Amino acid sequence: MHKLKFPKNFLFGAATAAHQIEGHLNNDWARWEKIPGNVSDHRTSEISADSWNKWRQDIRLLKNTSQNAYRFSIEWSRIEPTPGFFDKKVIGRYREMIDELNKNNITPMVTLFHFTLPLWVADIGGFTNRKTIDYFARFAGRMAQEFGRSVELWSVLNEPNVYINKGYFIADWCPGKKSYILGVKAFFNQISAHKQAYISMKKANPRVKVGIAMNMTAFLPAGRNIFDRILSRLARWIVNEYFIGRIRKQLDFLGINSYASYKVQAKKPILSGKIADSLYQLLIEAKRWRLPIYLTENGTPAADVDRQKFIQGNLSQLSRAIADGTDLRGYFYWSLIDNFEWSSGYTMKFGLHDINRQPRKSAKVYKKIIEENSK
Ligand code: BGC
Repeated sequence: MHKLKFPKNFLFGAATAAHQIEGHLNNDWARWEKIPGNVSDHRTSEISADSWNKWRQDIRLLKNTSQNAYRFSIEWSRIEPTPGFFDKKVIGRYREMIDELNKNNITPMVTLFHFTLPLWVADIGGFTNRKTIDYFARFAGRMAQEFGRSVELWSVLNEPNVYINKGYFIADWCPGKKSYILGVKAFFNQISAHKQAYISMKKANPRVKVGIAMNMTAFLPAGRNIFDRILSRLARWIVNEYFIGRIRKQLDFLGINSYASYKVQAKKPILSGKIADSLYQLLIEAKRWRLPIYLTENGTPAADVDRQKFIQGNLSQLSRAIADGTDLRGYFYWSLIDNFEWSSGYTMKFGLHDINRQPRKSAKVYKKIIEENSK
């Protein structure tokens, strides 16, 4: 195997999202998941990993595995349960957690939208309503004001492309409104929401670094012919690049969530196979943005033996991409702990730890790589 090499201060972490681990939530997803048929195993996020109460244990898991970074989301519906009312107790609870992370030399990266909305925002149409742009920017500015001194890295929106696709085009996720018109509206409003959030966050604290966690799929042409090449280029532009291009001036770093890769061909089937070194390919392509890059999510629900190989193999691709000039600053495995996997309920397990916080062997494999590479 290629000898791993990572820059000094490289972030080795894991990622989670509030709705998937915290439990006890009252937002649009919590309402939606209770409707029969919406979640495959008929279970809800009601308790999940109970991280709202057990967050200290989560930090211990990070510590025990020698990780030096943690990406998580702050839940808008908790902070601002009614318009304009910012709950000081909730802010205090997140502050305690962030302080504890920093005390333990674990760099926090905070997401502000990871697929869930306060009910009052959902009830005006969520991101399909232009008012949500201002509400979101106000929330983002307030968060930068509250936490800007202790959190530098912000992956403001998580996967707008996935959110629109699943929420409006396929419509098997909340809000589950099958409409291309609404989906396209929400997509463009998310572009504006990012831009407005950038402005209000910088105003609140110029020190914050504003980024995104964009789901990117590696596409390569299956053959050398011009049709395959054009089609795979088009797929990259639509899925990976369009949104980023529109907000490029409002990005201090690029966060990439990577799960899928395809070979593309003009004849049927259009998607004809997977790419062996897809992460490497994605990272080399992403150099074009001339931004610091973080792999903000990358994970697998496969059996743990495969997860171990997955982590080893992917970190090796990362190291190669760095050697070939990618300005990669960190890697966040998805996920720290098994959790509520949206419409799949608890049937997909991505965790380095199970939901009772027991480490899998892959957690030890990751720890070993981290320790060998952070000297
Ligand atoms: C999302 C996570 C999700 C993961 C695994 C990503 O698209 O950001 O919330 O759990 O994929 O499916």
